Amino acid sequence: VADVQLLSGPTVDVHTHVYLPSYIDYLRSRKEVPRIFRAESGEDRLVILPGEDKDSSTAKGRPIGKEYYDVDTKLEFMDVHKIDASVISLANPWLDFMDPSTASPLAAQINSDLQSICAKDYGDDGAKKVLYGLGCLPTTSVEGSVKALEHLAEMDRMRGVLMGTYGKGKGLDDPEFEPVFAKAEELGLPIFIHPHYGIPSEMYGDMPNGHVMSLALGFPFETTISITRIILAGVLDRYPKLKLILAHSGGVAPYLVGRLDSCVKHDRHISQRLKKPPSEVSPIYLKSLYYDAVSYNPAPLRSLCDLVGSDRVMFGTDNPFFPPLEGISGRWESVDTNYGAIAGLENVDWMKGVKGTNAARILDLHV
Ligand code: URA
Ligand code: ZN
Repeated sequence: VADVQLLSGPTVDVHTHVYLPSYIDYLRSRKEVPRIFRAESGEDRLVILPGEDKDSSTAKGRPIGKEYYDVDTKLEFMDVHKIDASVISLANPWLDFMDPSTASPLAAQINSDLQSICAKDYGDDGAKKVLYGLGCLPTTSVEGSVKALEHLAEMDRMRGVLMGTYGKGKGLDDPEFEPVFAKAEELGLPIFIHPHYGIPSEMYGDMPNGHVMSLALGFPFETTISITRIILAGVLDRYPKLKLILAHSGGVAPYLVGRLDSCVKHDRHISQRLKKPPSEVSPIYLKSLYYDAVSYNPAPLRSLCDLVGSDRVMFGTDNPFFPPLEGISGRWESVDTNYGAIAGLENVDWMKGVKGTNAARILDLHV
């Protein structure tokens, strides 16, 4: 960890969330998931994952404090972990569950608020902190999402959007959602694809396993399914300049590259549908994407870099999720394991790139 932090060049966190006050207020007003409620203990709890409300124990949801919405707390976190620049985004489930008439104005408000937060100067000269943003989309309205992209393109601190895999309700390979990809490509705005829904909860079994099954497995499986559907639908053929960034190091897509290829190759119909040579479907497509380095282990991170090139991989923390169980001040183990994964790349150029120079180049950050 220390070795990575001592390397020259900026440290940039591309995966770091804030729930803005307007969004928090909205969640507090709701009685169904997603919502925030005040527990008997007086603590606020965030209940967002599908099916989570069925849990009748007091452990329902997770405690939320100022690390979820307070910008000064984010800056302290950056200070403690020696992060020079953060690209902040709204966290799941974004505006996916809202009807278009509510979602579109809220997206405009959140995106303007993010821009204002990022436009301020933070830190002193010796330890300057820089913020950029990834906006949100009112995904249930394609027209609203296209307008939101146009709005974001006018903002000087916003660098794209972060969204889930829901689209307007049928996923990201839905032809009706395609104008969003077309507009993002036209405006040069990257799209960061982030999971929320996991896989059907029956697959997690009846044991009370907390959030482990959904966060450790459901999330990356969901990302993998989503990007595979995007590839198979030919979206990357039609929008070759579109920049897609995949959360959590691409889920398990990079690991399953060979199997994906083989299955496409052995399916006459699908292999004819795609433009790229069937035997190279996934390497070619996966090498055109970008990834965060939120993998918590050197072995998968190194194999991702071997497969797609280390220049496409960018450090992230997933803050404020996975805080230390003993409290939020001080160093977070979830961050240090991600620094440790970068240290495990061993190649200094790869390490510097993943730590920050890749993000600066890919997202055009001035750091
Ligand atoms: N849990 C979530 O709900 N979202 C994240 O981004 C990470 C963990
Ligand atoms: Zn996240």
